[in-house]
This record gives sequence, structure tokens and C-alpha cells, in this order.
Amino acid sequence: MLGASGYAGRELCALILDHPELVLAFATANEQRGARARIGRHTIEFSATESARLGDAALVFSALPHGTSKEWIARARDAGARAVDLSADLRPGNGCEGIPYGLTELSREQVRNAPLVSNPGCYPTSILTALAPLFARDLVADDCPIVIDAASGVTGAGNSPKRELLFAEVADDYRAYGFSDGTGNVHRHLREMRAVAESLGCAADLVFTPHLLPVARGILATMTVTLRAPIQGETLTPWRATYAGERFIELVDEPPTLRDVVHRNVVRIAAMPLAGTRRPTLLVLSAIDNLVKGAAGQALQNANLMLGLEEAAGLPS
Ligand SMILES: NC(=O)c1ccc[n+]([C@@H]2O[C@H](COP(=O)([O-])OP(=O)(O)OC[C@H]3O[C@@H](n4cnc5c(N)ncnc54)[C@H](OP(=O)(O)O)[C@@H]3O)[C@@H](O)[C@H]2O)c1
Repeated sequence: MLGASGYAGRELCALILDHPELVLAFATANEQRGARARIGRHTIEFSATESARLGDAALVFSALPHGTSKEWIARARDAGARAVDLSADLRPGNGCEGIPYGLTELSREQVRNAPLVSNPGCYPTSILTALAPLFARDLVADDCPIVIDAASGVTGAGNSPKRELLFAEVADDYRAYGFSDGTGNVHRHLREMRAVAESLGCAADLVFTPHLLPVARGILATMTVTLRAPIQGETLTPWRATYAGERFIELVDEPPTLRDVVHRNVVRIAAMPLAGTRRPTLLVLSAIDNLVKGAAGQALQNANLMLGLEEAAGLPS
């Protein structure tokens, strides 16, 4: 495990340590190298990244920052290990097309036995999983943007110190972020979401505004989608068809909340028609734990498939 001392890395170490088939070969850190940490029932010591014996591992996870991760993934592959990259470095839209993208329920066959998988971002996991059934059936009007407001807990920003993430700055407040020079719709996850949405058949613009929620973990995405025509029958019909039998996708009639999903490897989705609009419009809601289904859990789900293990092994459902 590379980047084990970060939020995503610690979450993944905890899952690996309790996994029925996997053993944690090493857990690396940068500033925290040499420190000991209590993870669940276990205590581990973080080693320096340079000392990791990459070739001794059947599979290397990297939860390093983007920009740094790519180089270590290449070293792991050169040493003969399979690899799952949790960073944005190898994701679609970031100049590395052709690497299996591990939105597991939608790309299971590309991930199974793959030597290298790019693990999706947390916002893209919640948003793309929820919208994919509409894209697959060509239900979305091309001439109206899909408007996405999503709120994330503060672990989404990692654990390196930042003034704007101090408790006193975040507590009892709520704010939008991700603007550049006064312009919105520029968050770095948009490249990935646009590339994947397009590959799934979406021709509509995505308008994405992230918000910072004063909780530790969880993402709630609220998506307003103009349809070509109203959905016939029950609103959730497209989702039931796409995700029939999926144990980590929960389709619900009530708006999902973060309490429904934290510490679980699930995407919980609701959809409802909106009143008061001239064109048929849906509200789609999706909730995940950003550190589990949005990072470590989905990475382990992909690794299980890459290694020929039971897909759900070691995953909290
Ligand atoms: N947090 C989330 O919700 C989430 C969700 C999906 C994907 N991701 C992705 O997962 C990755 C990790 O995210 P995170 O939130 O866990 O970040 P984080 O808490 O900041 O952890 C980063 C990890 O990388 C290590 N590191 C930093 N710079 C390094 C360097 N130059 N060389 C070697 N190791 C270095 C850190 O070690 P020290 O702490 O010891 O310095 C730490 O272990 C990122 O690429 C992020 O985009 C995160």
C-alpha cells in the first residue's frame, strides 16, 4: 500500500488487514514514515516509499497524490506487480486513455484479471453511477445541461494541513468551492466525468458545483436532468434494469442520506420527477462514503476481480 498514511490509504489498510485472502505487504508514508498507527484492531508502522519492495506484492495500491502516483505505479508494474491507482493520474480525461476504469458495476469485464486499473474519483463514482442508466437508454435531452450539486465531507480533501479545512473554518458553515478566477464549473473531476459520460452516450453539458459539508465523510450528489420524454412506468425502471442483482447498488424511493451509506461500500440512488417544469425533468440523488465506495472500497472491489477473488471479499456492505 503506497500512501498508506493518508485518509484513503488508512481506509484501505483497514480493509486489507481484515480481508480473508490478502496480507498487507507494506504501508508507506512520506512525512509520517516511521510513525506507528492504530488501524482498527491492528497497529502498523509506516515505511518510506523508497523502501517498498514492490515486486514482493501481487498487487500494489497507490493512494499517493496525483502527479506523484503515476511514477510509482510505473515502478510497481516494472517490478511485476498488478496495480490499482486511486489517484486521478490514469483516469479518463487525464491523457491516459485505454487503461481500465474501475467503476466496477459498469466495467466489470475490463477490470477482471486486468494488470492495471484506474480507480474512479469520489464525486465521479457517485455521479456517474447514478446517471449511467439514463445515458444507456438515451433518455437525456442533449440541449440542456445536467446540473449537479454535490456536497462532500472534509476527508475528501486529504489529511495534509490546510487553513481552510481547520475545524473552526469548516464547522457550522456550508460553502461552494472549486472556482477559478471567478469562474465555476472548473473542478478537476470534470475532465474525468465528461470523458466517461461521453463514452456512456451522454451529449449534454455537465454543470458541476462541489460543496464542503462540515462532516468527516460522505458525498450527497443532487442532479437535475432534462429528459427527452417522461419515463414510462416506475421512475426507477432504468436503474432496476442496469443494476439488477448488484449488491453494492441500492435503489430507494426516499432521498438517500449520508447516514445510510457511511462506512459502507454502496451507492444509494433515488430518482423522482420534478413538478413545475415545462420539459420532463428528473431529480436524481446519490449518496456514497467518499472513502469507501468513493476510494478504498471500490479499489478493493476492483482488486478482488483483478486477482480472481470473490468480488465482495472483505468489503463492508
Ligand atoms: N480522500 C478521498 O475521499 C479520495 C477519494 C478518491 C480518491 N482519492 C485519491 O487518493 C489519493 C490519496 O488521497 P487522500 O485523501 O488519502 O490524500 P492524503 O490524506 O493527503 O494522503 C496522501 C498520502 O500520500 C503520501 N504522500 C504525499 N506526498 C508524497 C510523496 N511526494 N511521496 C510519497 N508519498 C507521498 C502521504 O504521506 P504523508 O502523510 O506521510 O506525508 C499520504 O500517505 C489522492 O490521489 C486522491 O485524489 C481520495
